[in-house]
Amino acid sequence: MIIETNTDLESNLGRLFGDDTSTAPLASNERMGRRIFGVDLTRPLTAEQAELMVRLLDRYKVISFPDQGDASFQVRHLERLANHFGAPIPHPKNYANYADYKKKKVPLALLPVDQQTCTQCDQAFPGTLQCRDDANSPAVYIVTNLVGSGPDKTEESVGGLHWHTDIEFEPTPLSTSMFYVQAAPSTRNSATGNWVDFIPPVDGFYHPDSPVDLTERRNNLPLNGETAYADTAAAYADLPDDEKQALDKVMVRRRLRKGDPGWLIPLVYVNPRTGEKSLHSPIWASRGKNIAQVEVDGMSDDESRKYLDKLEAHILKPEYRYDHIHKTGDVTIWSNFSTVHNAPPAKSIINTPEDARLMYRISCKGEPSYKLPREDSDAWIDDNVLPPYRSPAEYFEA
Ligand SMILES: [Fe+2]
Repeated sequence: MIIETNTDLESNLGRLFGDDTSTAPLASNERMGRRIFGVDLTRPLTAEQAELMVRLLDRYKVISFPDQGDASFQVRHLERLANHFGAPIPHPKNYANYADYKKKKVPLALLPVDQQTCTQCDQAFPGTLQCRDDANSPAVYIVTNLVGSGPDKTEESVGGLHWHTDIEFEPTPLSTSMFYVQAAPSTRNSATGNWVDFIPPVDGFYHPDSPVDLTERRNNLPLNGETAYADTAAAYADLPDDEKQALDKVMVRRRLRKGDPGWLIPLVYVNPRTGEKSLHSPIWASRGKNIAQVEVDGMSDDESRKYLDKLEAHILKPEYRYDHIHKTGDVTIWSNFSTVHNAPPAKSIINTPEDARLMYRISCKGEPSYKLPREDSDAWIDDNVLPPYRSPAEYFEA
């Protein structure tokens, strides 16, 4: 297994991006998470720079690049960056008829402009907070509380979600996801010091027989709009050898809907570039009732849940957790093979722009490509990217 040292990575960063670069740990244990200063992501990357970016992600699992500028950073810069890590996946919510396209093969249509998320965001605080002009790319999912918000609205909040990995239920799962943060909430409740209060999960959100320690860890969520991560590579590495050997043989059946045949894939992911192993989304019900529960090959539903609940309790131990606080101008990238994450409790309807969350997310799959544009074959795109999509050629022009 190749684990690069911080010193090697820092010296390569300086060599390829200049002497003004530096890094700092994000999490106190320094195993997962690195903030990387001095890299301007509005500029295209050379092949050598792009390769280093992938190595940084392999090493740290979550990497964050602050100060990417205000209006100078366009969403196409994020999409160009995403292409180095994998093929960007369009988001179903950007289409008017995605379900009919999938089921009945009707021609696909993008949402009309007035229904696009960016248009609706722009109506919350006109003149104060507007999405970037190019925020309507099919590959961009806008994570925001601006839709339906405005100065005359009554504030509402929502609880956290299930711990999960993005789109782990497809035959080729997502490898990488990333955010560009245009706005992050800055208000705090003077009594609690937090942005939001904890909202306990409603009955039925988690299985009623979930163990107490797991329930406590699931509910230990950040309250200032952070994305919560857990490091599933470190969690695997710390297990005794006999448990690792047993886990290495475990296959899990993933599928979108209960009753689908699904497919078997290993629970332990091996990073092809480093050989490092991690637990890939070891969670029985990562989206509650929306996505079919995972079946451990050879186990009943109940046995699968108990088996995976133990692993979920392990990966959610405090030593593997890191809550990433988002700041305006950050680009934050995470590995979906080596982490699980959770969306935090949040104000969902707001009446002041200081409470706004406005983040552009792009997810991608497949192998990294250090040179752009990518050269994914049409057949691979047809098999793995639905609807078939490639970023516009002009995103790669210098
Ligand atoms: Fe997610």
